[in-house]
Amino acid sequence: MATTSANMDVTMHPTSAHHDACDKLSTDSAAVPNKDSTLDSTAASSASLSQSQSQSGCRLAAVNKFTLNPDEPKRDLQQLVEALQEELEKGKDLNRLYNIMMSYDASGNEWKRFEYWDDKKKYTRNLIAEIPDCFGLMLLCWNSEKASPIHNHAGSECFMKVLQGSIMERQYVIRGGEGDGSVDKDAMQQQQSVAENSRIPRSDIILTNEKTYTAGSCTFINDSLGVHAISNPSSERAVTLHCYIPAYDACKSWSPTAEGDGEECRVQQCHISYDTEQGERVSHD
Ligand SMILES: [Fe+2]
Repeated sequence: MATTSANMDVTMHPTSAHHDACDKLSTDSAAVPNKDSTLDSTAASSASLSQSQSQSGCRLAAVNKFTLNPDEPKRDLQQLVEALQEELEKGKDLNRLYNIMMSYDASGNEWKRFEYWDDKKKYTRNLIAEIPDCFGLMLLCWNSEKASPIHNHAGSECFMKVLQGSIMERQYVIRGGEGDGSVDKDAMQQQQSVAENSRIPRSDIILTNEKTYTAGSCTFINDSLGVHAISNPSSERAVTLHCYIPAYDACKSWSPTAEGDGEECRVQQCHISYDTEQGERVSHD
């Protein structure tokens, strides 16, 4: 059992075992020839995927339909963790959880205690608090002009609130998988593990929504809605606060391959690690 500086009762995940080559895919800029190609590659993917969307006539992903409660009190970071825990002990009311995430007042800058930057990575992942089998709260610090791969959320609910800068989210549906209304939740859970060297046609990844979020706004996704890629397209750094319900240590990613004229995407299992936990650097040696 470990606690945050605010003595919130949280247990930390062991992390050293979770770092593998797939982490490099998602966070290590050494895997990318230069910073421009990161976004160029994403933009090229989106153009191609947009085209397949129009060809398939696939439905648009459900957009956030949460109702903001104007009477929700502002919360500091400790109050945010306590409110999330309290709410999740009652059930999983996504609208309430959205309002709790929106209630976090970032102007107090407490989050800066968890801020960690690494110029060699696209972004860093920094654990603030975790209650096993309940939720994980973390800060992601995005270098400029960097993007995540397309990824799912391992059956969890995911809220992402922008604290600094602006963030672009592209949502996709995977034909026969995440976001495809013809696939039920149980079948999707069974698809969580990925065979090595698994590939799907790029046309099976269908862009459904693209939106830029600025500081103070919050978005939501789960595997029933689809998958997404997050990017910081600006020349400024960006910071996002993520709540995963529950936290998870592995997910799937989709990356275009150079083979087959780029008509395929590689599907990989990604093990997730943290760069810092409660403000302390995590060693992956
Ligand atoms: Fe995500």
